[in-house]
Amino acid sequence: MKIVSTIPEMRTSSREARSRAARIGLVPTMGALHEGHLSLVRAACSQSDLVVASIFVNPTQFGPNEDYARYPRNLKEDCALLEREGVDIVFAPPVEEMYPAGPDTTWVVVEAMSNRLCGRSRPGHFRGVTTVVSKLFHIVEPDLAFFGQKDAAQVAIIRRMVRDLNMPVRIEVCPIVREADGLALSSRNAYLDQDQRKAALTLYRSLHRARERFDQGERETTTLIAAANTEFVSAPGVRLDYFEIVDPDTLEPEPMIRKQALAAVAAFVGSTRLIDNILLGP
Ligand code: PAJ
Repeated sequence: MKIVSTIPEMRTSSREARSRAARIGLVPTMGALHEGHLSLVRAACSQSDLVVASIFVNPTQFGPNEDYARYPRNLKEDCALLEREGVDIVFAPPVEEMYPAGPDTTWVVVEAMSNRLCGRSRPGHFRGVTTVVSKLFHIVEPDLAFFGQKDAAQVAIIRRMVRDLNMPVRIEVCPIVREADGLALSSRNAYLDQDQRKAALTLYRSLHRARERFDQGERETTTLIAAANTEFVSAPGVRLDYFEIVDPDTLEPEPMIRKQALAAVAAFVGSTRLIDNILLGP
């Protein structure tokens, strides 16, 4: 496994692979890898000839009061995990390599969707994501790129970016990997103490509460959301950011579920912001 930190070296490696008609699969990550990330890597390994995993804690997708500085970083352990999975190249550039002019960069913005769900409470977040993902696509030039359903809004926005900008890459989406009790794996779970770890299950419970009502036949989203919100009433140390039911492609709120809908939740457990979601319907 090669560890690459410069853009020219990354480009040379992927161009070389392309010249021998290898299918290139990219798994973009911010590191602190867990089984969720590794599920994407496994999907990439099964569908590509050359697998590139990127590890880059992207400063432009963090707000000024967010956890950029303390976001967990452990490149050595991450590389050991990726090597074991059979990844060919780890692309781990320093910040100056990706943003030589600092945060004063050209932006890629999916305007219609970037202020929905997490974009509303994290202004500029999705602009940072779409910008860095476009850069990675230009640098690696993958045929396939793998993302997790865990970040459902990110998936919808990246799909839209790829479509609108005619990027020659196929987006593959992998299911959410959860702990045995239902908590969605996240690099940020490492911030939680024992009590907070228990309280973090409120997100999953709220989604289940909505699904229960949906399975009983309820289709009005205000009713489903009200049912989900009850989980947060008696959850000490947990503060709901949003619980929304939206169209999974446009992220527009749905008053009534007719086909498939995305129930998405974000909440602070202590100072840790967690997200989760489920699909309702076929
Ligand atoms: P990061 O949070 O490191 O996640 C990298 C990828 O792993 C994302 O596609 C995310 O959806 C997926 N993932 C995380 N937890 C998962 C889980 N429990 N089950 C399945 N997949 C999971 O998302 C980012 O990084 C960044 O925004 C990035 C796309 C790398 C751009 O900086």
